[in-house]
Amino acid sequence: MRIQNNGNIQSPRPAGVRGSVIVNNIVKLYGKKKDIVKALQGISFEVTKGELFGIIGPDGAGKTSLFRVLTTLLLAEGGNAKVDGLDVVKDYKEIRNRVGYMPGRFSLYQDLTVEENLEFFATIFKTTVDENYDLIKSIYSQIEPFKDRRAGKLSGGMKQKLALSCALIHRPSVLFLDEPTTGVDAVSRKEFWEMLKQLKEQGITILVSTPYMDEAGLCDRVALLQTGKILSINTPQGIIDEFKKPIMAVRASNMLHLLNDLKEFEQIEDAYPFGEYHHAVMKKNFDEESLKNYLLQRSNKEIELKRTEPDIEDCFIALMPPSPPAGGE
Ligand SMILES: Nc1ncnc2c1ncn2[C@@H]1O[C@H](COP(=O)(O)OP(=O)(O)O)[C@@H](O)[C@H]1O
Ligand SMILES: [Mg+2]
Repeated sequence: MRIQNNGNIQSPRPAGVRGSVIVNNIVKLYGKKKDIVKALQGISFEVTKGELFGIIGPDGAGKTSLFRVLTTLLLAEGGNAKVDGLDVVKDYKEIRNRVGYMPGRFSLYQDLTVEENLEFFATIFKTTVDENYDLIKSIYSQIEPFKDRRAGKLSGGMKQKLALSCALIHRPSVLFLDEPTTGVDAVSRKEFWEMLKQLKEQGITILVSTPYMDEAGLCDRVALLQTGKILSINTPQGIIDEFKKPIMAVRASNMLHLLNDLKEFEQIEDAYPFGEYHHAVMKKNFDEESLKNYLLQRSNKEIELKRTEPDIEDCFIALMPPSPPAGGE
């Protein structure tokens, strides 16, 4: 499920472990005075070496702004950050040698071939493909049969593998991947996360942003970002464990009718479509029989009702309260 835009709540500070990436109260503003956009409103977190850290957030949350600050491409208006022990402002040149960055929008040269793209990125980092081939071998070998094809002619999944190979060719210690799986088919998405796991095993610290809530479960820890604020930072299991309310999975012959009825039930907190069912988050001491009777009274047919465990997506939905009116803060 793709994460939606909603309201916001305050974030807790993360536990302070010595990090490979240390972000301290970063503020990023765009525009001036009346038209000011607060893209990052005091973001703090730490990522340990070798960690696979996810930034989960909807469009406009501030993911790209954050990655651009951390990769020294953008100056923050407030706060400070360190990457691999180096300051993002003072030590920007050295950081650029140490980080790999795969921007959300396409970083490849469409008119260059697969092989030429890779060689180009190796050259600008003053290295060679041969020297670092071991690091990208398992990824690049999948597209090597097409090495003479222009990047612009590759499928989405293949472009993504090439872009990742290019971001890795100078053997970075920290890798920033901005929405690498957006617009990529489900199979390629799954393969991509497998590749990240392998890279992590080689000790590379990985920060990856995504609007897909289900991908949170594939990270060691995740930060939920919305309108420039962190709503929660935890392990995927930790986020699930914090969810204390009962959830019912409900199905009936007319799902739209059912959803409207669920929303009007007095013992309900929230209801939303969830795969083949609707998830109904119930008040703590709700009564299953009265829910069933209520749905029958409202002429729902073929009702199926079962208790279910929260999924990480349920937790994110609960963490993000309904959106304020458009244009509101
Ligand atoms: N160059 C810019 N000028 C003005 N506003 C911007 C600019 N870049 C981003 N923003 C705004 O900052 C907020 C965060 O954007 P962004 O970092 O791109 O979020 P995300 O990558 O999560 O979609 C959004 O409200 C966006 O409209
Ligand atoms: Mg973005």
